[in-house]
Amino acid sequence: MVVMNKYKKIQDELNIIGQSEKIREVIELVMSVAPTNISVLITGESGVGKEVIAKAIHELSPRRDKQMISVNCGAIPEGLLESELFGHEKGAFTGAIATKKGYFELADGGTIFLDEIGETPIQTQVKLLRVLESGEFMRVGSGELRKVDVRIIAATNRDLSRMVQSKQFRKDLYYRLKAITILVPPLRERKEDIPLLLKHFVEETLKENNVQFQGFTDDAVEVIKNYNWSGNIRELKNFAESIVILAAGKKVDAEMVRHHLHKYSDDQEFSTTLPMPVNTSVERAERELIYKALLSLGVEIRDMKEILLNMNRNIHDQVISEDVEDVSYQDEVQPMGEVEKQMIRKAMAKFNGNKRKAAQALEISERTLYRKLKEYDIE
Ligand SMILES: Nc1ncnc2c1ncn2[C@@H]1O[C@H](COP(=O)(O)OP(=O)(O)OP(=O)(O)O)[C@@H](O)[C@H]1O
Ligand SMILES: [Mg+2]
Repeated sequence: MVVMNKYKKIQDELNIIGQSEKIREVIELVMSVAPTNISVLITGESGVGKEVIAKAIHELSPRRDKQMISVNCGAIPEGLLESELFGHEKGAFTGAIATKKGYFELADGGTIFLDEIGETPIQTQVKLLRVLESGEFMRVGSGELRKVDVRIIAATNRDLSRMVQSKQFRKDLYYRLKAITILVPPLRERKEDIPLLLKHFVEETLKENNVQFQGFTDDAVEVIKNYNWSGNIRELKNFAESIVILAAGKKVDAEMVRHHLHKYSDDQEFSTTLPMPVNTSVERAERELIYKALLSLGVEIRDMKEILLNMNRNIHDQVISEDVEDVSYQDEVQPMGEVEKQMIRKAMAKFNGNKRKAAQALEISERTLYRKLKEYDIE
């Protein structure tokens, strides 16, 4: 019973929902590593809560009064990553107009969270290894060795051991990092947590929106519990938010859930069949993507126009042609950014937030996708 209370207190404080054996094992590990300075590697599929666990470790550690700085190693352009992490001296490179401290210096005494560590370029990995082993590093453009006291937590949804085999990730850094690994289990391995998480996300949605909600029938919860949440907690959270709004004050039954999930997976089958060149530069591929998006938009509008024409033709021949003129957007020009944003949203929804798959489908690099997600503020 004492053990139960211990978990509950920690979960309440850190907002980690779940009672399953698997999540308890994770919390147990978090509690045992938190008071130490040991670096930790957090692995697990997309959306399982790796960042939540990293924050929990920091909050339970003696460093909690200092900062935890989160760095998404995949989102920062390769050329800037080292100067962001380690800082730079004035004049170190074009544009370095003043000396700047890096995240390691800023996090001194606290924690640094290196998210998506698998995206770190190989030449930066050796510098990370050094800072991991001795706390030492040099600012870009400086020969002076600096030392900090920073606890390192890293996370990835990639298989680092395979990346080591294909020489994309340094073996020494991998062994150094993986000594303490926390594997956050996917939702399908802790189904009993689903109703608790669902309730939590529904309550959060209700707090933020002024809507009525009658809850779920028991078999609706069963359907939700048995659905394959490949985007894990993030996907369940998005689902909870939308069903609360879509239910429009009615009690949600199994049928409604199935319908919503079905519609959702239909969306996921969306695919553009237009040809796409491969082996091109990122910029070229991006440009191609935009053309492709514009093209398919044109196709959709043509189809819509045709459907409307057919529908209306039976009723009123004259009115139709005028109406159709009104709904013809063929000449309308949309801002490029808007088209790009829509495509990125669609790809992220299709792959349940899995950035690697979304980037592949969009045929842009994962780094470019990270940058654009940030730019467009897409979660
Ligand atoms: N145990 C939990 N209880 C409540 N909410 C959670 C829990 N775990 C994760 N979440 C929520 O789920 C979402 C995804 O979590 P998080 O960003 O930590 O996942 P992640 O593993 O880092 O995902 P990615 O691989 O895409 O970066 C967040 O909104 C987070 O608040
Ligand atoms: Mg994350």
